[in-house]
Amino acid sequence: MAEDTATRSGTAIARGSEFHISELFFSRTDTRGVIASGNAVFQRISGFTYDELLNAPHKIVRHPDMPKAVFWLLWHRLQKGEPIGAYVKNRTKSGGYYWVFAVVMPITGGYLSVRLKPTSKLFERVQGLYKELRTKELEAPADYSPENSAQEMNAAIKALGYPNYVAFMAAGLTAELMSRDKIGAKPVDDRLQAFDAMSKAVGDIFDEANALYADFRRIEQIPVNLRLQASRCEASGGPVSVISANYSNLAREALAFASRFTDFGQRVLDEISLGLFMMGSARLQREMNRAFEAEDHGASPIDHQREMALLAGHMQRCGDMARSTVGRILEQCERFIDDSRRMRRFVGGLDVTRVTCRIETGWLPDADGGFHDIIDKLDAFHEDVERRMKRIDSLNDNIIERTNALLNRSASRKPAAAPKATAAE
Ligand SMILES: Cc1cc2nc3c(=O)[nH]c(=O)nc-3n(C[C@H](O)[C@H](O)[C@H](O)COP(=O)(O)O)c2cc1C
Repeated sequence: MAEDTATRSGTAIARGSEFHISELFFSRTDTRGVIASGNAVFQRISGFTYDELLNAPHKIVRHPDMPKAVFWLLWHRLQKGEPIGAYVKNRTKSGGYYWVFAVVMPITGGYLSVRLKPTSKLFERVQGLYKELRTKELEAPADYSPENSAQEMNAAIKALGYPNYVAFMAAGLTAELMSRDKIGAKPVDDRLQAFDAMSKAVGDIFDEANALYADFRRIEQIPVNLRLQASRCEASGGPVSVISANYSNLAREALAFASRFTDFGQRVLDEISLGLFMMGSARLQREMNRAFEAEDHGASPIDHQREMALLAGHMQRCGDMARSTVGRILEQCERFIDDSRRMRRFVGGLDVTRVTCRIETGWLPDADGGFHDIIDKLDAFHEDVERRMKRIDSLNDNIIERTNALLNRSASRKPAAAPKATAAE
């Protein structure tokens, strides 16, 4: 960790406090963020004694380089009962620092934070992002609030390609777990990988659905132009006018479907991000619990038995949440298939109307090529829609297949006896 040097009063040079990538650590707080417990690794890395840590506010390890935005978001989510994952730079008692990826969640009586050492490529980008945010916070006028800074952070996260913070924290946790496995020469976590691939497929559906919606918006004007052109060449109420009115109606309904597709994409995207995050959290918690169980508790004032029971219950809940989001994703996908079928019927209807239109306009004079132009645009539009619908269908099939595989895997696992839990998957 040869990066930044945090200076306090322009003097102290911070040094990175090392811990091994295989190590995990946790701290538990009450609802105000006052430290209630933590494992031996947490105590060792912080450089504080247990006496200094227990009953101290967690900001005892706050590093001045950390943007306020991150803590604003952390408390904003925790107070709504929502989990959060975040990269955090902490300070040690001697003025050193260490980076973690922390998974923080509500737990009975307060909150629990489990941390691992970040090593992914995303981590490198986040360090740059934090530097920019913190500089802005320090240079901004007094009325620039932590919430303003959090909005700035969310915008920067969007610019990195994540639709929202939940998608970012899910990607962060997944990337860190996978990178850690790779460094530790552990086998690939195929469930995380499958979930990761699913979340990319849903992202692609979302993009296609948005493009479809934009296509439908773009052709809204075409039937109007067709009617105008027809009014010059045929008597009022003639066949082309009637066909273009029909087309207009069908296109309007199809547009409503396309809009539902984009809603669906957003909902599943959110659900899948949370599912991915919870799956990673359950795995992290399982490893954390094993490590805590194996720790030497000789010198620790922590009630080990009680702590173990709390952690085991928490791990179980993470697993339950991951499983229930997988179930909801499957439900959404099935509903989406129904919508997709209905959408295809509409598009089929539009297509028949388009062909009829081509035939009918063939009888009419088209001296300025107006009809020709319009019909060509409709042809191109239909080709585009057909291509997008096919891609959406195949992405959806792909998601369903993977979701079913995940559910079948979970179902085939035996539930573990509490509290010696291994049941989080
Ligand atoms: C479970 C839990 C763990 C936390 N862990 C840290 C941490 O490791 N480092 C940190 O700076 N803040 C941590 N916080 C947030 C602190 O409570 C505090 O909001 C933060 O240090 C910013 O302090 P400030 O608002 O006084 O600037 C944690 C909070 C909770 C609830």
